[in-house]
Amino acid sequence: MSYKVGVFIGSLASDSINRKLAKALEKLAPPELDLVEIPIGDLPLYNRDFDADYPAAGRAVKDAVAAVDALIFVTPEYNRSIPGVLKNAIDWGSRPWGTNSFAKKPSAVTGASPGMISTAVAQQHLRSVLSFVNSPEIAQPEAFIHFTQGLIDDDGNVTVPATEDFLRNWLHEFHVFIVKVLGAQNITL
Ligand code: FNR
Repeated sequence: MSYKVGVFIGSLASDSINRKLAKALEKLAPPELDLVEIPIGDLPLYNRDFDADYPAAGRAVKDAVAAVDALIFVTPEYNRSIPGVLKNAIDWGSRPWGTNSFAKKPSAVTGASPGMISTAVAQQHLRSVLSFVNSPEIAQPEAFIHFTQGLIDDDGNVTVPATEDFLRNWLHEFHVFIVKVLGAQNITL
């Protein structure tokens, strides 16, 4: 059985190291996981005035989340939290009230930074947001990627074998988690 996994990238920078990490994940994913980016760059700033008539960009994000079985968030850390663009996208997906797109979608978080704590604080903030929108999150293994020069090239090739193995195993564990969570959701009590 294969699963579609939507990937949110929390950086719009053209040379984003988190985009490189997302590309690497796409390459290293097991055949059962089909990773596809959910673009967030065209979203206006969320404002609840939009709830009465969601614009196309907002509907596109909600439709994209609805079309996948699970989600991966690959995010930089901005000032010890997640970038506004990513929070904005989650706000769009969570509304209008009563139509939260994230509910019951299994999720995993990771991120890359040249800093020594490697997005750990941002990921913790993101976990808090994902809890509120009722997305079951894999707890372990955590994936804090300390990005050194050339760690992942522009095509998503990981140049350090230990990091490549780590990411492959992380994806394997997420696959197991998806199977468990979605399997449990099908049980009728
Ligand atoms: C940063 N950066 C950063 N790094 C970090 O480890 N912790 C932090 O709190 C911050 N804060 C921060 C704020 C802002 C506004 C910027 C622009 C940058 C550095 C950041 O990790 C680095 O720029 C990464 O390259 C960003 O990821 P992308 O955009 O390359 O994917």
